[in-house]
Amino acid sequence: MNELKLAKLIKIRNIETFGKGSLSFFEVGNDICFDVKRIYYIYQVPEGVTRGGHAHRNLEQLLICPHGSIEILLNNGEVFESVLLDNPSVGLIVRNMVWRDMVWRECDSVLMVAASNEFDEKDYVRDYKSFVKELDERNLQEMK
Ligand code: TYD
Repeated sequence: MNELKLAKLIKIRNIETFGKGSLSFFEVGNDICFDVKRIYYIYQVPEGVTRGGHAHRNLEQLLICPHGSIEILLNNGEVFESVLLDNPSVGLIVRNMVWRDMVWRECDSVLMVAASNEFDEKDYVRDYKSFVKELDERNLQEMK
C-alpha cells in the first residue's frame, strides 16, 4: 500500500452496517504504533485553501480525511511527495521533521488528526529555512 518515503499509508478498518452506512476505527497498538494524546479535526475550510506550512520537531500524527478530498504535500528539503486523502478507509502516518502543507480540494472536507502529544507551540517549526537548517543539524549529529 505504501510507496512513500516521508510517510506511511495505512488501512483504516471499516465495518459496513448494511443499509445503515459505515463505521471506521483504528486502535493504538494494533493499527498505529504511537500513543494518542490528542485528537483534533479541521473543517469548514473553503475549497482551494492551503493550511499547514510547518513541521513538528517531535510529534507523530495519523491523518484521516473522513469526508471530502484533501491533498497532503510533504517534503524533507530533498524529497517532495503528494498524497490525496479522499477515502475514509485510508490513514497517513506523518512522523516528525517532515514539512507539510494541506490543500482543501473540496469544500466541506474534514481532516481528522490523531497526535502523539498535547499541543505545544514550541514543537512547531514554522519557518522553512529554519526547518532545513534543523534537519541538517540533526543529520550531522547522527553522523557523529
Ligand atoms: P495549526 O497547527 O497551525 O493549523 P494548520 O496546520 O491546520 O494550518 O494551528 C492553528 C492554530 O490553532 C494555531 O494558533 C495553534 C492552534 N492549535 C491549538 O491551540 N491546539 C491544537 O491542538 C492545534 C492543532 C492547533
